[in-house]
Amino acid sequence: MRKIPKERTIDNTLAVLMDGYPFLTKRMEKFNSKIFKTRLLGEEVICLYGKEAAALMYDNSYFWRQNVIPKRVQNTLMGTNGVQMLDDEQHHHRKALFMSFMSRDKIQRLMELMLRYWRAYAQKWEKMERVVLFDEASEVMYLAASEWAGVAVDPTKVREHAQEYINMIFGFGGVAMRYLRGVKARNKREQEIGQVIENIRSGKLDVPKNTAAYQIAWFRDLDGELLDTKIASVELINVIRPIVAIANYVAYSALALHEHPEQRNKLASGEDKYSQYFVQEVRRLYPFTPFLGARTRKGFEWNGYQFDEGKLVLLDAYGMLHDPEIWPEPYEFKPERFSNWSGSPFDFIPQGGGDDFYTTHRCAGEWITIEAMKVALKFLTLEVQYEVPQQDLSISLVQIPTKPKSGIEISNIVYKG
Ligand code: HEM
Repeated sequence: MRKIPKERTIDNTLAVLMDGYPFLTKRMEKFNSKIFKTRLLGEEVICLYGKEAAALMYDNSYFWRQNVIPKRVQNTLMGTNGVQMLDDEQHHHRKALFMSFMSRDKIQRLMELMLRYWRAYAQKWEKMERVVLFDEASEVMYLAASEWAGVAVDPTKVREHAQEYINMIFGFGGVAMRYLRGVKARNKREQEIGQVIENIRSGKLDVPKNTAAYQIAWFRDLDGELLDTKIASVELINVIRPIVAIANYVAYSALALHEHPEQRNKLASGEDKYSQYFVQEVRRLYPFTPFLGARTRKGFEWNGYQFDEGKLVLLDAYGMLHDPEIWPEPYEFKPERFSNWSGSPFDFIPQGGGDDFYTTHRCAGEWITIEAMKVALKFLTLEVQYEVPQQDLSISLVQIPTKPKSGIEISNIVYKG
């Protein structure tokens, strides 16, 4: 049996907070190994890297999601007992619910809503000196996602509620205030969305049948029972929150356009294929998902290494998106590289891996994300004109999750209509 290199440490949780995204890659390099052990949150963890490791981790016969998501992530980003925490038939049954929102027609409807809100916002921006694109995008995404999902929006609270979704997303890797803001936002959203679920069930609120709010309110688990209100609210938030998160990819897209102005001509040449390459490259280059986690459901041997039952395993998603063997010149922005990408479900995993959306934990919203980024990109390149004033465009790799520091301020905005 081969020996897995082991980091000598009492616990490395603080080092994750200090190293941020490169935490795993740094250690893979130190051990010159695509596998090593360390200790995190009080337990031994096996850390993995590479396409074969990703294929292993998404094999449900070896891994599951029991007891994987740390409490601080449940308290902010994910909630408790949502689809992310389920296994086997229960998972497949719940995941089918999410995938039913991903039909071509439904995604098309969401894209139309986004475009409508982008256009309305552009007209508002013309009267403003400058705006922070990340904040504006989070509102656009929040408005479109809520309307699409069948959740009424209070027009006086758009900023507040969009920001609460952002606080949930950015809370889990934070210490002190950032974490507490995330917890507070989750509690508030769960309460309000829980009320929506109850109002639908009691008949007080009438929402169209084909919306996520209706479908989740009336969804029956394998035991034939309706979801507990809290779980139903976690799931409805699991639809709206990650759509709001796309604001970060919109900000990153604007950053890429600013730093690589030549890309505008390539995009303007109008080929849909090129905008697909562009958004894939944004999802590859710019940091969002740091690691992916799962737990061994039985003991087994892999590549000569022993994996005991019940071991937490982390996969270096960020590192793999910058692997020079898969992506030559990995820190360069080169959308064309996607013209030769094999399409493997295991080597490009910004939103998780897996070859089947229905039976693995691969992100349910990958198609929405890609389409929403394309709509935003088209809007930013063809429908508005703007300047990017002097500002701090840096991206901290220490902060997980991260975003451009300034949020991408834009000024002198003209809506071309
Ligand atoms: C799962 C990232 C957008 C819904 C995931 C996972 C990641 C991820 C890393 C976990 C994969 C795993 O554990 O193996 C992202 C990123 C997004 C995004 C970076 C872009 C901002 C979306 C959207 C939706 C969505 C737009 C839906 C509207 C989900 C759901 C799961 C999930 C329901 C759980 C899947 C399961 O456990 O089976 N996402 N996501 N995500 N995502 Fe996304």
